[in-house]
Parts: sequence; structure tokens; C-alpha cells
Amino acid sequence: MLTVPKTQKEEWKTYKNVFDQHSLLILEKFRSQGHYDELKSPLALGKEANIFSAMKGEDEVIIKIYRLENCNFNKMYQYIAPDARFFGVKKRRRLVIFAWVQREYRNLLKAREVIKVPTPMAVRDNVLIMEFIGRHGEPAPQLKDSPPKDPKKFYRKVKDNIRALYRAELVHADLSEFNILNFEEEPVFIDFSQGTTTAHPHAEEFLRRDVKNIVRYFGKQGLKLDEEREYEDIVK
Ligand SMILES: Nc1ncnc2c1ncn2[C@@H]1O[C@H](COP(=O)(O)OP(=O)(O)OP(=O)(O)O)[C@@H](O)[C@H]1O
Ligand SMILES: [Mg+2]
Repeated sequence: MLTVPKTQKEEWKTYKNVFDQHSLLILEKFRSQGHYDELKSPLALGKEANIFSAMKGEDEVIIKIYRLENCNFNKMYQYIAPDARFFGVKKRRRLVIFAWVQREYRNLLKAREVIKVPTPMAVRDNVLIMEFIGRHGEPAPQLKDSPPKDPKKFYRKVKDNIRALYRAELVHADLSEFNILNFEEEPVFIDFSQGTTTAHPHAEEFLRRDVKNIVRYFGKQGLKLDEEREYEDIVK
């Protein structure tokens, strides 16, 4: 029997369209284990996942909840099946989604050894809790909404990050101005669910696509970059 404190119940009612029974159960588990105290506000209600901020004592944390119903698990399966870390994952909706979230968690753990990313704090089934990137309750903006003051300098940091990940045998695979936060002129990569190891059969293709997106974005910011040269420079 799920017992939910009244205030929490009221709060959840507000978002009843985004929480299914299973997610509610996991959220309540996490709350009772002290991973957070109360939900604060929705930050992004996306296609595959909903992102909330929540309070944990004086701090804020991010809770990412993948939709169990209307998400494209066929596409997820296609991406995750060739990942050696998830060989043998069964093509069943929930199992694929849970593996997907596990992958994001593991990628974040690995990435944080070499670059700045949100520290993952807890994961279970379709729910991931991580560090809040921002200050005084304000989340850091996506790069698309907050172009860098010094594009050249910012680009160099982004490139250094891509290279550091690559050396740690990780490719983000969904990198663009949407999944980079501009945190006080420092890039913070987020949304690592598509991240693969360099051993993945499509790793090179994914890395080339990441570089292409970044070169295109910084081209719009006035930098003259050659995609091929930048790619070669990163992998050399
Ligand atoms: N740790 C964080 N700190 C601050 N803001 C965050 C954090 N994680 C996510 N956000 C905000 O929420 C938005 C959506 O997050 P994210 O990119 O992880 O999900 P998504 O694109 O909906 O997910 P997916 O593509 O995996 O389905 C981000 O663009 C960012 O604005
Ligand atoms: Mg995203």
C-alpha cells in the first residue's frame, strides 16, 4: 500500500498527467530514503522524460522521470542493443526503458571523472536523481537560449570536453546546444542517455554527428571551423 503524505499528494495531483503509478511508487521510495524532501517545479516536460527540481534540505536536486507509456522504446532498443554493456537486454518496453536510464546513470558516473556534468545521485527503474546545475534556485540555461559571451573560448572548452570524454572511451551521441548548459560561461554537458562507449559499432558516426552539431552552432556564433579538421583534432 502506497502511503503518501497529504501535501505530497496535493502536489502530485497537479502533475497527475505526468506521473503513472509506478513512477509515484519510485518517487515515494526515494523520498522516504531521503534522496529528496519535496518536489519544487517542473523544468521540462519532454517527449521521453519529465524533469523536475526538488528540494533536499537546503539544496536543490533534479529528478528525471522517463515516461513508461508514450515513449519511443523501439528507438531506444535500437540504440541500446549494440551497447556491450547491455548485451542481451530483452525487447520489452519497461526493461528497455530501465536499461536506458541505467545507461544514462552509468554514463554520467563515467563522464564526471573527466568533465563537469551533473553528479548522478540515485537511480531506480525509470527515475534518475542528479545534481542541480544552477545557482540560487535558477537552473543554468541551455546554450541555445544563452549564447556564450566569448564564443571562441567557450568552443575551446566544449572541444576539450568532447576530447576528454573520447579519451575516457565515451561518446555523448546527442550533443548540441540543447544538451549543453551555459553555467556562468562554463559548459556543462547533460542528457547522457544516448552516450555510448567508443567500442559501439556506430561510435564514430555518433562522434562525427556531435562534432557537426557543435561546429554548426559555433559557426552561427561567428567562428570559422572546419568539421573534418575539428573531428581529426579531437581523435588524434
Ligand atoms: N542537472 C540539471 N540541472 C539543471 N537543469 C537541468 C538538469 N538536467 C536537465 N535540466 C533541464 O531540463 C531540460 C531537459 O533535460 P534533458 O535534456 O536531460 O532531457 P530531455 O531532452 O527531455 O531528455 P531525453 O532527450 O533524454 O528524453 C534540459 O534542457 C535543462 O534545461
Ligand atoms: Mg535533452
